[in-house]
Amino acid sequence: MKVKRFSSMDDLYSHAVATIVEAKNNGATTFGLATGGTMEPLYAKICKTDIDFSHCISFNLDEYVGLEATHQQSYAYYMNKHLLNQKPFLASYLPDGLAVDPLVETARYEGLLQQYPLDFQLLGIGQNGHIGFNEPGTSFASLTHLVTLEESTRQANARFFSSIDEVPRQAYTMGIQSIMRAKCILLLAVGEAKREVLERLLASDYTEDVPATALSKHPNVMVLTDLQEEENKL
Ligand code: GLP
Repeated sequence: MKVKRFSSMDDLYSHAVATIVEAKNNGATTFGLATGGTMEPLYAKICKTDIDFSHCISFNLDEYVGLEATHQQSYAYYMNKHLLNQKPFLASYLPDGLAVDPLVETARYEGLLQQYPLDFQLLGIGQNGHIGFNEPGTSFASLTHLVTLEESTRQANARFFSSIDEVPRQAYTMGIQSIMRAKCILLLAVGEAKREVLERLLASDYTEDVPATALSKHPNVMVLTDLQEEENKL
């Protein structure tokens, strides 16, 4: 796992854009995308470039259960607003938060992922170490599945909703194995709230208690962060 630390947020996001452009120039056509506050400046920057995704396919990591695509806090809405309306892909896939049968929906989504293997996967990280919505304890062998969100995850994401009661309790997410199949992974860990989990990730533990540590076994992961190494740490 390679780590690059930045003292300027603008440099961090410019580097992230350059990494995506480089992957694309090297032939990547299938991109796994992420949501969350961390990704907003990245998508804003991408929208200012002339990058063309019109022959590419995108997949999102996850979606809340129970929110229709027009709901302002659905990840479908987020993606359209921050990226896809300005930079359309040939096709963009997300799990369907309103699917009637979770087993059919997760099999459908996993099937699509296997049909169009991911060349590139963008990841944020939750304060509890989740990637996508794979909460602590998720099997590293997991495929796309339905999850019950941890209370801490609902609290962390409540800032996007008018009240905690509106935050869904379940979500669909790509599994850890679905993510690990991507040829190349770019993870952004931004902000002081991510310091503890970043340290655990970089300590090279390999434990299902911290889902992101699965990445330590992936051959091509780049982590970008604004967090500097703490000096004088015993
Ligand atoms: C959400 C998403 C994750 C994202 C994480 C971090 O729960 N499901 O994919 O990485 O939160 O979000 P933020 O960037 O807002 O801290």
